[in-house]
Amino acid sequence: MATDTPVPPGVDPTKPNVGRMYDLVLGGTNYFEADVKAVEAIRQFVPETEDIVWANRGFLQRATKWLAEHGIRQFIDVGAGLPTRNNTHEAAQAVAPDARVVYVDIDPMIVAHGRDLLKDTPHTVFIQGDLRAPDGILSHPEVRELIDFDEPVAIVLAAVLHFVSDDDDPWGLVDRYMAPLVSGSYLALSHATYDRIHPEVIERFRRVYDNANEQAHFRSKPDVERFFDGLEIVPPYDGAPPVVTFSGLWGAEEPADADSDGSRWIYCAVARKP
Ligand SMILES: C[S@@+](CC[C@H](N)C(=O)[O-])C[C@H]1O[C@@H](n2cnc3c(N)ncnc32)[C@H](O)[C@@H]1O
Repeated sequence: MATDTPVPPGVDPTKPNVGRMYDLVLGGTNYFEADVKAVEAIRQFVPETEDIVWANRGFLQRATKWLAEHGIRQFIDVGAGLPTRNNTHEAAQAVAPDARVVYVDIDPMIVAHGRDLLKDTPHTVFIQGDLRAPDGILSHPEVRELIDFDEPVAIVLAAVLHFVSDDDDPWGLVDRYMAPLVSGSYLALSHATYDRIHPEVIERFRRVYDNANEQAHFRSKPDVERFFDGLEIVPPYDGAPPVVTFSGLWGAEEPADADSDGSRWIYCAVARKP
């Protein structure tokens, strides 16, 4: 049961935690009472909560598979979350068993759990790091050991930049991740939006996150498109133009069927560094 979860040092179990809340919705077991209450509060006015999370997780998996099929063998997944299920290394290594994956998260409990879970998984590391400090992540000894920066790398920023405020310049941060990478590297990114959601629902959602360890910063489509400035967006599905789209649509075989309520909470795209 959730409340039996041991509390590692530096973790406040009384504050809802965005990583644990997300994992709880995915069916994980590493959460506390505060996380359950926050998720229950959201479910009351967002009946599509599961759909939002799974549509985003689906994007992450399909994008990773696509990248591996297009020759990418190195992934740095920042804001990775608890690797309970359907992980980046599983999607990548199913295509290319030699694919190497660095997971990064800011949360000590997620990192401890991640390290434990991956201890017997080759070509993976899990490090603690803050997305807002790209240099510290890119120069981390375990990252330098696993990743060859003379070869293409995919930077994965899935459902995490909406925890970074405008004051921390999330667009500038993305540039700093992409700048040192060679041509042929990729950015795979997803981000929450208010565009198709009633403002009252967004406001209630924000209020729940105001009490959590991270606050929610929803953004418009033009704001999300700016993350891809200077990169070449790939068409999200057969026959589509190269655009930012909703999470469920990316890589969808039947885009019309994939256009769900939950999918419309999250924009995403995959883009190549020229
Ligand atoms: C909503 S989960 C997304 C998990 C996964 N990327 C996915 O899309 O399925 C967001 C994760 O980002 C982490 N996170 C939030 N702010 C961060 C930061 N500044 N640096 C690194 N990780 C962060 C949280 O701890 C959480 O695990």
